[in-house]
Amino acid sequence: MPIYFDAEKQTFRLDAGTSSYVMRVGPHGYLLHLYYGAHTSDLDLSYMEPSLPRASFCPRPHGDPETFFSLDYYPMEYPAYGAGDFRTAAVSILGANGCASTDLRYRSHEIRSGKYALKGLPSVYANETDAVDTLDITLSDELTGAEVHLLYGVFADRNVITRATVVKNAGTAPLTILKAASAAMDFPTMDYDLIHLYGMWAQERWISREPLTHDTRTVGSLRGSSSHNHNPFAALVSKTADEDHGEAYGYSLVYSGNFAIEAECDSFHSARILMGIHPTDFRWHLEPGESFTTPEAVLVYSNEGIGEMSRTYHKLYRYNLCRGEWKEKKRPILVNNWEATYFGFDDEKLLDIAKDAADLGIEMLVMDDGWFGKRNNDHCSLGDWFVNEEKLKGGLKPLVDRVNALGLKFGIWFEPEMISPDSELYRKHPDWCLCAPGRKPSIARFQYVLDMTREDVRDYLFTVISGVLSSANIVYLKWDFNRNLSEAGSALLPPERQQEFFHRYVLGLYDLLERLTSAFPHILFEGCSGGGGRFDPAMLYYSPQIWTSDDTDAIERCRIQYGTSMVYPASSISAHVSASPNHQTGRLTPFETRGNVAMAGAFGYELDLTKLTDEERALVRKQVAQYHAYYDIIQNGDLYRLVSPFENDVCCAWEYVSADRSEALLTFVVTKCRVGFTTFIRLRGLDPEKRYQDVETGRIYSGDTLMNVGVNLSRYWKDSESLICHFREVTE
Ligand code: GLA
Repeated sequence: MPIYFDAEKQTFRLDAGTSSYVMRVGPHGYLLHLYYGAHTSDLDLSYMEPSLPRASFCPRPHGDPETFFSLDYYPMEYPAYGAGDFRTAAVSILGANGCASTDLRYRSHEIRSGKYALKGLPSVYANETDAVDTLDITLSDELTGAEVHLLYGVFADRNVITRATVVKNAGTAPLTILKAASAAMDFPTMDYDLIHLYGMWAQERWISREPLTHDTRTVGSLRGSSSHNHNPFAALVSKTADEDHGEAYGYSLVYSGNFAIEAECDSFHSARILMGIHPTDFRWHLEPGESFTTPEAVLVYSNEGIGEMSRTYHKLYRYNLCRGEWKEKKRPILVNNWEATYFGFDDEKLLDIAKDAADLGIEMLVMDDGWFGKRNNDHCSLGDWFVNEEKLKGGLKPLVDRVNALGLKFGIWFEPEMISPDSELYRKHPDWCLCAPGRKPSIARFQYVLDMTREDVRDYLFTVISGVLSSANIVYLKWDFNRNLSEAGSALLPPERQQEFFHRYVLGLYDLLERLTSAFPHILFEGCSGGGGRFDPAMLYYSPQIWTSDDTDAIERCRIQYGTSMVYPASSISAHVSASPNHQTGRLTPFETRGNVAMAGAFGYELDLTKLTDEERALVRKQVAQYHAYYDIIQNGDLYRLVSPFENDVCCAWEYVSADRSEALLTFVVTKCRVGFTTFIRLRGLDPEKRYQDVETGRIYSGDTLMNVGVNLSRYWKDSESLICHFREVTE
């Protein structure tokens, strides 16, 4: 078992891969956090606890005048509000006395084999070959009867520890949770940089790296979704950490709603990081006997740099979070008609695209927005999920059959959570749109949001979407979400429960996704939110790929995909070749470059294939062949980020290495043209003793030469401004 408990020293040690995590039941039963990092063989780390005499401004619990123990500066495992720890709290629960001060002490624990699951919430799971155990520590507050279960899922063979918290009302009076983080962690120093992923629509997941300072910093979302603006991920990395060296602690939240990641450094120069549901506009009422479960936080430790942290997440999320038939199945190369036609299409136009797609080796046609109700622009019809027969004569089936007859699969777009005021659904059920009672809802992209907390709304959506999916041979569904939540509230919730709305919305969304993915296991779900506005681990649990950004400009995508790769595997990063000039930026980019960049994800096209020149058609055929040839290395290999587009203003580069290190693919992109620059790139992750041949030039290098000396790329590229070099092991 990777979980040890020393009863005499009252100490827990969790050994996950090459990392250890140590806690101790300290004075008065407070659970202390002693260490997280590279492996330690010792259990007794109590010498790490601070022993400085502190001022009278550091309260001592229970009037204990003799010891130096104060919650104000001891490292806490799950810090509670209001009992003398003045740093950012993980938990605060209102008791019957109306006070928020919360006092949690260790009561018991249980070690179980296998990984815990969370009711109604997505979480990482163990496959048959994974050794994972669960530690469940019970803390409780004697006065209020609040019982807090700290859950730890410990992977014996990987540097992964998952955490979640269950708060139970084991008392006799109602409780109100004001805050319940998924995980918290204290560090004895603040010598770290904070990395997080920020952005906006069409510019998601840019990388920010800043030193921790003496303040409290919050990265989060109050938009009702994980958002374009901040991703539910952060890392603390040592000051000198780079892709290949140094320590990196990753914190990733499996959640799609309002979240907060808080990092605080106190006056004693120690650091605390917390993550969970955002405490703003959150309150959860618990009757005696009821429980509340937080989303899961996934902790990854690396002492081989930031790159290794990412690779650990990639494997975990690909194989232990994504589910279903499509989890490991090769994804079809698709063509999506959005940027080809926008709303201006009919069945004949789609068939023209499909014919060219079939001829070029593309495997699936995705019909995007505009096929339902009377939707010829974005002003109407969301909620009216019946086919517009003016566009698709005779309905969906004849079109899908004809597309199938060409040898192509068929996919469809939905935006289930939305409702247009100009829709039959809204005229029938105006109360189904979410709204704080008494307020008028704001409008965004001419649409309101459906109240996903309501069972009748979810039942309607399940029935109507199932009907469409069953009406023809549909194998793919793009699930979009094109606005954020405002005036949040539900017509069905009593006033004292309205602040449960945001979380209940997310639970409702997961419930519907669970029902639909279970009912249609053969369908590949692709997540989307105006591009990558809900690109989070929880959505990956239901949809193994997500549309990464509405910005399809290949040069812009370098940053977006590079940042996304911090946590998410290539198999989840949908990337399409689109038209040039690009529709978002107007930039002209060579066709090869657009293909080379899109090749780094779940690959497809998003342009009018009927308008391609012969030369471009030849390039599509070449890219399709490359996709098949490189599929295994990219999707199942290890990613090495080589040149960051955030640090280098003229180029970027990344590399995939096959699991057995017999092949590598180096992608290099010029992001800004400049006369006469020479680029030497050193590869990573190869076997220094193997010999590798550049498949295109035939030149043979030893692995150590490629990694230590590098390749001279300026001798390779022509006018495409990018290239993919394929290196294959040679044995003779
Ligand atoms: C969002 C998506 C796009 C497209 C449009 C359709 O913006 O990100 O890919 O589906 O909606 O309205």
